[in-house]
Amino acid sequence: MSERRSIVLAERPAGHPTEDNFRLEKGPVPEPGEGEVLARILWLSLDPYMRGRMDAAKSYAAPVELGAVMEGGCVGQVLASNDPRYAQGDYVTGQFGWTSHGVLKGDALRKLDPAKAPLQYALGALGMPGLTAWVGINRILEAKTGETVVISAATGAVGSLAGQLAREKGCRVIGVAGGPKKCAHAESELGYDVCLDHHAAADGQAMADRIAEAAPGGVDCYFENVGGKTLDGVLPNMNVGGRIALCGVIAWYSGANLDDATPLPKVWRTILVNRLRVQGFIIFDHFDQFPHFVDEVAPMLADGRLRYREDVTEGLENAPKAFLSMLEGGNFGKTLVKVAD
Ligand SMILES: NC(=O)c1ccc[n+]([C@@H]2O[C@H](COP(=O)([O-])OP(=O)(O)OC[C@H]3O[C@@H](n4cnc5c(N)ncnc54)[C@H](OP(=O)(O)O)[C@@H]3O)[C@@H](O)[C@H]2O)c1
Repeated sequence: MSERRSIVLAERPAGHPTEDNFRLEKGPVPEPGEGEVLARILWLSLDPYMRGRMDAAKSYAAPVELGAVMEGGCVGQVLASNDPRYAQGDYVTGQFGWTSHGVLKGDALRKLDPAKAPLQYALGALGMPGLTAWVGINRILEAKTGETVVISAATGAVGSLAGQLAREKGCRVIGVAGGPKKCAHAESELGYDVCLDHHAAADGQAMADRIAEAAPGGVDCYFENVGGKTLDGVLPNMNVGGRIALCGVIAWYSGANLDDATPLPKVWRTILVNRLRVQGFIIFDHFDQFPHFVDEVAPMLADGRLRYREDVTEGLENAPKAFLSMLEGGNFGKTLVKVAD
């Protein structure tokens, strides 16, 4: 059997992460213990939450230890199994990490049927990011027909599905994305009514003006993925009784741009005056919704009502570069690494 290759956390980043924070390590392929399954990894998902795992600071999940394999969701094929529910050749998904071969308890795995959907969808549209979009629109925002919804990171893994789900509900959907190519895609392929390029807005005030133009009746729901000047632009446009699903603040993950943010007293007052409901959510509190989500979304993907785009990098050794690029908006669609055929 071939050697195992893994990307480990070499050092903690100071501010923006760099490739030096990661190290490729080689070693023997691990043996599965009792109740465990060994898989060779085919696909690795790269997600913004991994930036948080690189820091030692307290968060909703434990950090990756220095020298440990970076955390990550994967699709793999079973090589050996000590769990009767899994046989050699089965396809599974689980948190194996940034590695070519991984071992997990059978309880931590979900079996995949390659006839139902492309295997890697389990890491995107039919996995954690898709569920996040579905929960945000349906359970947190409770978006209704005729309402105006703004989605930031509008063409990304979460945003692209959130925007389309809002459109399917009969909402007016305004996207915010980085660059004319992404905005054109949002309007022509994803069915956004309009998409605003945040690179073209110098600051929060400029963004607020553009949102006011796109949403003359104000904004009822905001699916917040980024923070920064996009949040500054949306806040003054929120309608009375509006809702904000606080899903992520990627503009601030490495501590950048914090000094330019709208001061808290101003934000607080806006929430009060407009009687806004702001709800942060972390998707692992909502995994019980997974079957409802799949029942609704899988047919919409299969019949083409929902469009889904992937941004694939070949080779595990290129995962750090692809991850850093995603944090800066270099991805166009769900970020994946093809680890093996
Ligand atoms: N709460 C949860 O449980 C949960 C679960 C999954 C994801 N999330 C969050 O959801 C958000 C989207 O995640 P994703 O997996 O779908 O990633 P993604 O949107 O596919 O990729 C990240 C995108 O963020 C945007 N971005 C980066 N820096 C930005 C900045 N300074 N200002 C504005 N936009 C910026 C870029 O899009 P543009 O080029 O369009 O700017 C980039 O493509 C992240 O904040 C993530 O942490 C939260």
